Amino acid sequence: MTPTHPLTVLGIETSCDETAAAVVRLGARGSVEVLSSVVLSQIADHAPFGGVVPEIAARAHVETIDGVVGRALADAGVTVAQLSAIAATAGPGLVGGVMVGLSFGKAMALALGRPLIAVNHLEGHAVSARLTADAPYPFLLLLVSGGHCQLLEVAGIGACRRLGTTIDDAAGEAFDKIGGALGLAYPAGPALERLAEGGDATRFALPRALAGREGCDFSFSGLKTAAARLAAGLTTQADRRDLAAAVQAAIARQLCERTAAAMKTYARAHAGAPLRLVVAGGVAANAAVRRALEALATAEGFSFAAPPLAYCTDNAAMIALAGAERLAAGLTDGLDAVARPRWPLDEAAARLHPTHVAGRKGAKA
Ligand code: KG4
Ligand code: ZN
Repeated sequence: MTPTHPLTVLGIETSCDETAAAVVRLGARGSVEVLSSVVLSQIADHAPFGGVVPEIAARAHVETIDGVVGRALADAGVTVAQLSAIAATAGPGLVGGVMVGLSFGKAMALALGRPLIAVNHLEGHAVSARLTADAPYPFLLLLVSGGHCQLLEVAGIGACRRLGTTIDDAAGEAFDKIGGALGLAYPAGPALERLAEGGDATRFALPRALAGREGCDFSFSGLKTAAARLAAGLTTQADRRDLAAAVQAAIARQLCERTAAAMKTYARAHAGAPLRLVVAGGVAANAAVRRALEALATAEGFSFAAPPLAYCTDNAAMIALAGAERLAAGLTDGLDAVARPRWPLDEAAARLHPTHVAGRKGAKA
């Protein structure tokens, strides 16, 4: 059955340390309206442990999910009867949390007799710029968050091809770990950005992983170890400021170098068509990173789009939009959809070039 527009979709996101729900409306001509977006952060629950504790996260999602969904519906001024479908993150992420949101979504879908859409969290990030900007398919996507760092060619909903990924840590993880070594609270990315203000980025020499190498893969573990070692020996606030500035510049530089390589491949495949770069994920909230990538896009003849800060970090509006676009394309899921801790967006590329060798649990990103 072809769904009738406008589509009003409830999105649910519980894959990490945010319990989030949102209502998004997708018009027949692709117009997008975010009717509500509620994000309840668990950061305070995890801060004493310096990172996200899966059991604490799952428990907190269970305790708050109904209230968060209720508020999203109330803020949107929408009743459950007006929903076209329920979209919930089904992975990748901390599986206990994913199960909470997905089960809640299934129960609502069953009770209301509406379709369920099991959304890949990364696909949510992939569409996030489309919540507010005119970012038509196809585009080159740099997805940079706490758990992921990938370059993807996005031809449409459900049609992603991976061009590169990190061979060790994600960029957000590097921000968090180095920030932690500088004494900043988790998640340290935003605090490191503030600390870096006015710092001298040239004072500390940091390793340049994969510089000049072919391809578009990333590596941040060498930078993470070197910067954390340097941080341990620093005594003054000025030293810490300079190191933070150097780290931020090093991460921005690597993101630009690898994106520049991906742009060449992408431009060859899309000769004569408009070239677009979209940047999404928590690290896209960093102003220095955004500025550097926007300058690169301009230099290479690409247009540039990035979501506003609230939609860079985890939220449910992006899950609702991915769900609405899937619903419009007839891509719905059964109530037997499973929660997946690992779920690569481009499964073929992940199988061909696994980033984790056998013995670990397979490709995460
Ligand atoms: O997308 P996100 O909310 O969650 C994941 O799916 O991972 O991204 C969170 C990550 C964290 O590592 C956080 O430190 C980083 O994004 N982040 C930042 C900034 N804001 C968030 N990193 C650098 N500068 C920022 N302003
Ligand atoms: Zn995310």
